[in-house]
Amino acid sequence: QEPAAPGAGSVKQQISNLVALSLRATVPEVDVEPIVEVCTGKFGDYQCNNAMGLWSKVKGSGTSFKNPNAIGQAIAKNLPACDVIESASVAGPGFVNIVLSKSWVAKRIQDMLVNGITTWASILPVKRVVLDFSSPNIAKEMHVGHLRSTIIGDTLARMFEFSNVEVLRRNHVGDWGTQFGMLIEFLFEKFPNWEELGSQAIGDLQVFYKASKQRFDEDAEFKDRAQQAVVRLQGGEEKYRAAWKKICEISRNEFDQVYKLLDVQLEEKGESFYNPYIPQVLEKLSSQGLIEESEGARVIFIQGHQIPLIVVKRDGGFNYASTDLAALWYRLNVEKAEWIIYVTDVGQQQHFDMFFKAARMAGWLPDPKEKKFPKTSHVGFGLVLGADGKRFRTRSTEVVRLGDLLDEAKSRSKSELLQRLTENGKIVDWTDEELEQTSKAVGYGAVKYADLKNNRLTNYTFSFDQMLSDKGNTAVYLQYAHARICSIIRKSNMDVEELKVSGNISLAHPDERVLGLYLIRYAEIVEEACTNLLPSVLCEYLYNLSEMFTRFYTNCQVVGSPEEPSRLLLCEATAVVMRQCFQLLGITPVYKL
Ligand code: ARG
Repeated sequence: QEPAAPGAGSVKQQISNLVALSLRATVPEVDVEPIVEVCTGKFGDYQCNNAMGLWSKVKGSGTSFKNPNAIGQAIAKNLPACDVIESASVAGPGFVNIVLSKSWVAKRIQDMLVNGITTWASILPVKRVVLDFSSPNIAKEMHVGHLRSTIIGDTLARMFEFSNVEVLRRNHVGDWGTQFGMLIEFLFEKFPNWEELGSQAIGDLQVFYKASKQRFDEDAEFKDRAQQAVVRLQGGEEKYRAAWKKICEISRNEFDQVYKLLDVQLEEKGESFYNPYIPQVLEKLSSQGLIEESEGARVIFIQGHQIPLIVVKRDGGFNYASTDLAALWYRLNVEKAEWIIYVTDVGQQQHFDMFFKAARMAGWLPDPKEKKFPKTSHVGFGLVLGADGKRFRTRSTEVVRLGDLLDEAKSRSKSELLQRLTENGKIVDWTDEELEQTSKAVGYGAVKYADLKNNRLTNYTFSFDQMLSDKGNTAVYLQYAHARICSIIRKSNMDVEELKVSGNISLAHPDERVLGLYLIRYAEIVEEACTNLLPSVLCEYLYNLSEMFTRFYTNCQVVGSPEEPSRLLLCEATAVVMRQCFQLLGITPVYKL
């Protein structure tokens, strides 16, 4: 890791750097990491919590400090003189409360306005991440679970990318396995001229899948042929490979439509990609003595688990786990990723837990207690529930078509928008194009935000009414809040672009200061969301920010006040930060509503 440029990184990182210097001066004999948090009380903005821990380390060693409070006093006194900190004081047993300098906060905001929000990128301890997300299965339904994985994964990717981490966005599609024998045979039977089929010609792949499954279950002779087809496919026979490719292509086109609607980029490296690596990877594990024979299968026994991890099935075939081991090996050794992140429903937790442990047993990953990277993480999420509290389904079909779902969100938001604009006579100000774009941004944004705002581990109830409401913590409410700020800026006669360079932000009013301080916390929020793989942290920040803006706007007149130039810049900064949050959440902001 290269040393950070002065002034780079989040505010918390910068304060930590200053605290680190003070700690070195205060207790040169002990080597500790600075502990810096946002202040919970009202006596500071950030606080350093090192004194108490340090006391237990130095007491009885002939130290001149009498108690933790004295260490706190020394930490406060030894903070280097700089333009960041206004003052520092000690509370209770030794909490060091740090007050930031108003002019430094103002300058940081102004710098961002001039040089762009990328100057607020945080510094993360990794350079390259593999993010395995979405990952639906060929010819099967792409269900709401995959939608969640797609939305959560995309946001994580965007947050890492914003923090200058290279992200390999991997779509680990289920494109290999025994079901392909059945699908290929059914294709040959149903579409003798399958080679000439256009990429959509099968019609509905899910229906095709179901019909072939039915045939497989009912007809022993077909089942036989299907099983031979798997062998021929895996043996690389031309015709079978071609049919397999055709089926994958049709599925891929369907998935791509959803990705396009959601504006999600992914690179497909499906299970089949890793298949050639499986034998050599298993060979290595075997030579390390990790693989054993058990009831005809080849398995890895893992501490803390009753059942072993099967890596070669009884019939000699490979499975989900063997593919994942090969994929992990590839990601670590060929792609040289430091952090490999998997986004799936929590139901797969045991699978990930087991194969991560197997990788650790093989020495691919360090002991989590010793070193941080490379590391693997499973980003689990809960179920999507319907209004009835059961797994989400629509009335008409058993499965929820994701395209239809997004369409419905859009058309609902459009009719609400139309109704409102008609009621207040504003419809004349809108072009059809604008209406279309806005309802899409609002509708799709609502679906994404509803998914992201809760802690991902909890189940969430899918409700159009709730997510499209303009009250409470919803994307619609936030879109309104942002559009309102834009309209304040439009209303002013001053030119914000000019003010950015010539004007000056002052944070004289308490509500201005609170807003300013919250704005500059942006980088540490993204940092926290990345570190803990929690998009909800960013949602919470965005919501709080809009509430703080409202408080500021209620108590501080902007347009027509003597403070207009400064306050307008605060409006602009809030709008910029909100837009950047939207961008990371994959939501298109709207400028009028
Ligand atoms: N295809 C799997 C599913 O639909 C998800 C794959 C997740 N990624 C992985 N490397 N196992 O459940």
